[in-house]
Amino acid sequence: MSSLSERPPDPVVGRAVPHESARLHVTGHALYTDDLTPRTKDVLHAWPVQAPHAHARVLELRTGPALAVPGVVRVLTAADVPGVNDAGVKGDEPLFPQEVCFYGHAVCWVLGATQEAARRGAAAVEVDYEPLPSLVTLAEAVAADSFQGAQPTVERGDVRSALAGAARTFSGQTELAGQEHFYLETHASLASVEDDGRIFVQSSTQHPSETQEIVAHVLGLRSHEVTVQCLRMGGGFGGKEMQPHGYAAIAALGARLTGRPVRLRLNRTQDLTMTGKRHGFHADWRVGFDEEGRLQALEATLTSDGGWSLDLSEPVLARALCHVENNYWIPHVRVTGRIARTHKTSQTAFRGFGGPQGMLVIEDILGRCAPLLGIEPHELRRRNFYADGQSTPYGQVITQAGRVRAAWEQVSTEGELDRRRAEVARFNAEHEHVKRAVAVTPVKFGISFNLTAFNQGGALVHVYKDGSVLINHGGTEMGQGLHTKMLQVAATTLGVPPAAVRLAPTRTDKVPNTSATAASSSADLNGAAVKDACEQIRGRLAQVAAQRLGVPAPDVRFRDGVVGGLGTTETLPWDDLVHSAYFARVQLFAAGYYRTEGLHWDSRVMRGSPFKYFAHGVAATEVEVDGFTGAYRTRRVDIVHDVGDSLSPLVDVGQIEGAYVQGAGWLTLEDLRWDEGDGEHRGRLLTQSASTYKLPSFSEMPPVFHVKLLEHASEEGAVYGSKAVGEPPLMLALSVREALRQACAAFGPEGTSVDLASPATPEAVFWALQEARSAHGRAGEVTAGLGARPPGPDPHAPERRPESEAALSGLSEA
Ligand code: MTE
Ligand code: MOS
Repeated sequence: MSSLSERPPDPVVGRAVPHESARLHVTGHALYTDDLTPRTKDVLHAWPVQAPHAHARVLELRTGPALAVPGVVRVLTAADVPGVNDAGVKGDEPLFPQEVCFYGHAVCWVLGATQEAARRGAAAVEVDYEPLPSLVTLAEAVAADSFQGAQPTVERGDVRSALAGAARTFSGQTELAGQEHFYLETHASLASVEDDGRIFVQSSTQHPSETQEIVAHVLGLRSHEVTVQCLRMGGGFGGKEMQPHGYAAIAALGARLTGRPVRLRLNRTQDLTMTGKRHGFHADWRVGFDEEGRLQALEATLTSDGGWSLDLSEPVLARALCHVENNYWIPHVRVTGRIARTHKTSQTAFRGFGGPQGMLVIEDILGRCAPLLGIEPHELRRRNFYADGQSTPYGQVITQAGRVRAAWEQVSTEGELDRRRAEVARFNAEHEHVKRAVAVTPVKFGISFNLTAFNQGGALVHVYKDGSVLINHGGTEMGQGLHTKMLQVAATTLGVPPAAVRLAPTRTDKVPNTSATAASSSADLNGAAVKDACEQIRGRLAQVAAQRLGVPAPDVRFRDGVVGGLGTTETLPWDDLVHSAYFARVQLFAAGYYRTEGLHWDSRVMRGSPFKYFAHGVAATEVEVDGFTGAYRTRRVDIVHDVGDSLSPLVDVGQIEGAYVQGAGWLTLEDLRWDEGDGEHRGRLLTQSASTYKLPSFSEMPPVFHVKLLEHASEEGAVYGSKAVGEPPLMLALSVREALRQACAAFGPEGTSVDLASPATPEAVFWALQEARSAHGRAGEVTAGLGARPPGPDPHAPERRPESEAALSGLSEA
């Protein structure tokens, strides 16, 4: 085993400890960025002037009336920008736009002595707009040929002839919606100017280094003149990977121009209407199976709705293409991706980062085709699992196929799936208007940033003379427990009790050039860097201890604050050793570094081995659906998930539960709607608060929710044998969608293929089960449009949203 993966005896990693800030969280003592505002003197508040058009030209901006409002100090406009007027890294996101690109786009910002003054000032700004034609839906953008960014293809084999030679082929469309992050803490920045003009920005950001770069380029400064600190976030979920930069830059610009600290905190409606969300996707596909239901070929085009600017749309699309096969072996594949440009918020990273969208497509295909093939969905899935030695369509070799099979077996046995399926069948036979179903789906999720360069991490570890330890590392804490894990890693490596170690907030002047805390990789990257720094210090201390204990340095052992040696009973307290090391002039701090080896990726041809490893999991979900209303509930969930050898089991189980519920929210409840009409509010986000955007709450929690970590899963070559956990379990929620589909099918004759809209809201489920009821054929008897509506519109049916329309049409055997 490599020294990176190996654990010493009695390690602090692997202990089920609470989140390092849990006590502060629950007592209200934890400070978030905006909590600093009342502690800061002479703060100005920033408020945006949001455009009431989806697309328009700014003809004139009159700021004079705002300046007449009492308490207004300044209005920031494009003319104030000393550097580059752009909030992103692609050069397509003007910070102060001349062209409004979505409803709610901020055209300028007002600074006031109070928030109320800034708000009134913003209301007083006069803007003349020339409205322009807008593209609000994906379909409109496609029709207008409005695309942005690269259009990559993942390809292997010969799809055309494989489809031609397949025993059964099907084609269809899949449409899936985006998702609002709804982190509890909205976007927040607090900027101030230091004595020599340096800028200090406190920001709720997953990517402090990039926030620093953007602030610097907007202000025309170098990176060493800007420091960004992130105390912690009240959730990020990907929404703070790229989106905080512009807000931090506005606050920094205001501070620079007024000399006073500037605070910018979006209220909930501003956050919802201005910041990006998960990308919705549309997929067009053809798939071929052999006689036994084994996948032969997949041809698909994935179109994502990128919103008005590129942001992270390209890497999100790349990850979608790299996860479209999920855990299934498909010999011949050609999947092309493209990003539509629409007049909406700029869609961005969201837990899973395109992976969920890619996987939904294949799970949708299997769920729809299983009844037509006459194979149980769970059997169809299992039959198509990868085996070791096979490779993904982009060329990465599969080496841990056994883990998905093991998790699948464990979920099947411990979840008693055979017994419960029989029970469900009995229940369904006895109940005409209520149906149940159990579905099982696997997850295989690649860990590492697709872009190889991002796979590096840094740390700075200080040991003070009294033996206490302070860690800085490049990752940010957003509730996911990264700091808890880093503390456990440092305590393990140094052989000290956890109480001896503290974490300092993330700052760009401590660890430079960091990657975003994203791609679930932060414990891997920063953990290995923390371990590296601690090993350097431990190595030097071992020299000192060797002399005092009279043993060779390699024989010195550090454990729980006591330093001993092989072949001696003599020991030294850690604090004592550190103290004497200081007087022997031994360096007690170190910078650690790690880069993931063995990765390669060619984004031009979409080939390589971009991932260090895959994280795996399996979930079984049982639902019950009411035939009169489409209302449903989740009865039971069983999960076995692969986190390697867990660094922190309580944290990991929390991540798995949270991710599953967040995924279930995306797939069932959360329904983003924009005004797609031609009225004056065209393009406006209609779901702008928690009253119209339904999030999962305690009442939707599965009453039976079993989460187990896959055992004997130590990961070679990763820090202390662990695996990343943050995103992969979100996709376990695909099992709830598949269970709903199967329950809908149970309302129809055997062999009914159900096309279910996403999100599968009760309304969507109602329409899907109505379709199932009216289906009158068995698999194979109907060649096209199985599950199609009866001819002619039903005059009694309420109007359907176009998405559902598209999603409900279209599965046909070709
Ligand atoms: N968990 C909590 N509580 N809050 C969050 O914002 N973000 C998720 C996941 N888990 C998030 C979370 C996302 S999108 C990612 S990429 C990972 O955490 C990032 O942290 P990690 O790399 O330390 O896993
Ligand atoms: Mo997570 S979507 O990679 O921030």
